[in-house]
Amino acid sequence: GIYLFIFLFYALILLQRLQEELPSYYKPWMDIALRVPELVLSHELRSCIHKMPLLSSQLLQRHRELRLAHLALSVMSMGYVWQEGENGTVQVLPRNLAVPFWEVSQRLGLPPILTHADAVLANWRKRDPDGPFDMQNLELLLSLPGGESTRGFFMVTLLVELAAVPSLRNIPIVINGVRSGDVEAVAKGLEEISESLQDMKDTLKLMQAHVEPSVFYGIMRIYLSGWKDNPCMPKGLVYEGVQTEPMEYSGGSAAQSSLLHCYDELLGVQHETESAFLFRMRNYMLPAHKQLIQDISRERPLRSFVQQQDNERLSQAFQLCVSKLLALRNYHITVVSRFVTVPAARARQLRDTGEASEMVSKAPTALEERGTGGSGIMSFLKTVRDETRDAYLPGS
Ligand code: ALA
Repeated sequence: GIYLFIFLFYALILLQRLQEELPSYYKPWMDIALRVPELVLSHELRSCIHKMPLLSSQLLQRHRELRLAHLALSVMSMGYVWQEGENGTVQVLPRNLAVPFWEVSQRLGLPPILTHADAVLANWRKRDPDGPFDMQNLELLLSLPGGESTRGFFMVTLLVELAAVPSLRNIPIVINGVRSGDVEAVAKGLEEISESLQDMKDTLKLMQAHVEPSVFYGIMRIYLSGWKDNPCMPKGLVYEGVQTEPMEYSGGSAAQSSLLHCYDELLGVQHETESAFLFRMRNYMLPAHKQLIQDISRERPLRSFVQQQDNERLSQAFQLCVSKLLALRNYHITVVSRFVTVPAARARQLRDTGEASEMVSKAPTALEERGTGGSGIMSFLKTVRDETRDAYLPGS
């Protein structure tokens, strides 16, 4: 029951047309939110936001309106904080932005910062409503500096989520199979999850064609980064009119997608060393997504079921799933090396020789070794990858 509900919820988020407009009362927000990239580049965003009226969030009613409002307010906040780069940050988010952002966040159960649920899950529209769900036919509702690479980064990530839908659908099938001891059903479910994991990896390869590493590293990344575990925002950010003490929130991270958490819980992947970051990121998800992960984690362990059954097809299906998850994580490491590690090394080299171009010199040095979420990005990803390997059944 609950799984079907949650799956439908997920599918609704992904497959239906999202809200594209807010009630006209919110025009002052949308007028600015739609122009964030150009206003940041012309250094006018902060002054536009200072002139923005303080609007009530009470006219926002439906879930989708709240999601679009959260996206708009988060895009404005990222632009506001990072408009002048890592050396020109602010300590206060002004009240006309901070108060409604806080209220909308409370109602959705999301933190008051740009998350995966905003930039990716709630940020698309089909050009032709009857056309396909692909790169050509999708566009962003709101953007951040970085042009086509920003569109590519968010859209490819969205297509990875879409490729995961068949695997999500099979999670309750696997769980019910374990409950009722139906080995065939569990094996078949796992085989389908493997296929979907393969699709996710193949889809992630589109990143290469749609995102330019120097644009990603030199322009886009700072707008995805937050005010926690970030050396250039050591105290966090004051949300004026909400609380006088500054608050700390992490920037965007793939760990905010519920997908990998679901597979880890299903397959029994144990995270020790860096688990604090992964667990914390669950608070940056929609509550229904976090709930799904928790529900999966409370089930009877699949891994020991597979071991007890000692059935060849079942064991193979389980091992295949682990190997596909491992391959996806390995490919993610390749992507990060292409878009973060390599450009970071290049930027350091250019800085040392004094030839840094404008683009590279604006790249935040605070994020050379970190993900925008604040993790020590490569060591984190490699640890998590190695822990995935430990989920293999012994003796093979
Ligand atoms: N988390 C990704 C990064 O660190 C977006 O660049």
